[in-house]
Amino acid sequence: MVQINSNYLKLKAGYLFPEIGRRVAAFKAEHPEAPIIRMGIGDVTEPLAPAVTQAMHRAVDDMARRETFQGYGPTEQGYLWLREKIAAQDFLARRAEVRADEIFVSDGSKCDTANILDILAQGANVIAVTDPVYPVYVDTNVMHGNTGPMSERGEYEGLVYLPTTAENGFVPPLPEGKVDLIYLCYPNNPTGAVATAATLKKFVDYARENDALILFDAAYEAYITNPAIPHSIYEIEGAREVAIEFRSFSKTAGFTGVRCAFIVIPKTLTGKAADGSRVDLHRLWSRRHSTKFNGVSYITQRGAEAVYSEEGRQQVRQTIDFYMENAAILRRTLTEIGFQVYGGGDAPYVWVKTPRGLSSWEFFDLLLGRFNVVGTPGSGFGAAGEGYFRLSAFNSRANVEEAMARLTRDAAALAE
Ligand SMILES: Cc1ncc(COP(=O)(O)O)c(C=O)c1O
Repeated sequence: MVQINSNYLKLKAGYLFPEIGRRVAAFKAEHPEAPIIRMGIGDVTEPLAPAVTQAMHRAVDDMARRETFQGYGPTEQGYLWLREKIAAQDFLARRAEVRADEIFVSDGSKCDTANILDILAQGANVIAVTDPVYPVYVDTNVMHGNTGPMSERGEYEGLVYLPTTAENGFVPPLPEGKVDLIYLCYPNNPTGAVATAATLKKFVDYARENDALILFDAAYEAYITNPAIPHSIYEIEGAREVAIEFRSFSKTAGFTGVRCAFIVIPKTLTGKAADGSRVDLHRLWSRRHSTKFNGVSYITQRGAEAVYSEEGRQQVRQTIDFYMENAAILRRTLTEIGFQVYGGGDAPYVWVKTPRGLSSWEFFDLLLGRFNVVGTPGSGFGAAGEGYFRLSAFNSRANVEEAMARLTRDAAALAE
């Protein structure tokens, strides 16, 4: 009989969002008229920039003519005209040294952050994640056989958890011992916190001293408004020796339904083979990528390219500003009615301390039942997220204002 990958059986039943869906569906069945506002899942709501859709229309026309038709791309790595613009505008313009041949265009950062484990040894690395954390990093390590079972506390044995809470200003401590792999995500999902250059430098130095690899997820970099905050880990000296960076067009340009992202693997990165020799990680990833992936569609890459045009940049910026104004409304209103509010200044997520010591799920039920507002319980992102709650700024202005008006009108119910 076929043997399965039993690591899957270690996974905690149900991912966070299905449980939210279940509770909302149960509530709706009982209260079909309730005007529910969803502020939970981090999906964008605004349409693509006109510069992007126009470029995609032109690309469709290219596909309709023999002379301009495109089959498989010239490389699985992505068209050079896209990678060159990424290198120039996302990195070199910020004095981060990344070259076009170090970029691999893909169909999403979720897949990239998961697939990167393919080129790393199974069960042989000590792995650190922040707590709370984007759940994909943890679950994919469980699937890959890099953890033991889940403990009573809801943590997987074998993983090193770096708690980020209000007490440490949402800045993760360095791992106490030696770890081999560290996942960092800034601006952070779920806390909305950002990493200063000093924080990143601390991690880069740790990684250099301990021969560790940093996986840096910058899916939300476009939301940084504070000019002092780095957008890329390669703005930090030494990062090219120790870090892989993940970027996505999903939140930057509303591509969650289009699918385009990229991964940067500097040619200066190495890992250790079983015989102790040093191996170039770029070469390994290139081998993996070209074997298991056939490239992102031409139409999509043309759309992504348009994000770097003059008008594309302006249009995309307008949409981000719109979401950040939503975040500002959330922060302002929640602070006024007495919440401790974090994040939301350089990220599209607001991280709220639940009132009266309520658990994350108790607060979820209160918001849903009393205010018909759906958010995300912080405990779903890790044990240290207990007692916190995430609200997303990805929504229409009308929904954000209505949700905040409901809370303001009945703020006493939150204090009871
Ligand atoms: C931190 C983080 N990384 C990656 C992703 C996934 O991005 P993509 O749509 O490119 O797969 C998300 C999506 O919510 C995210 O929050």
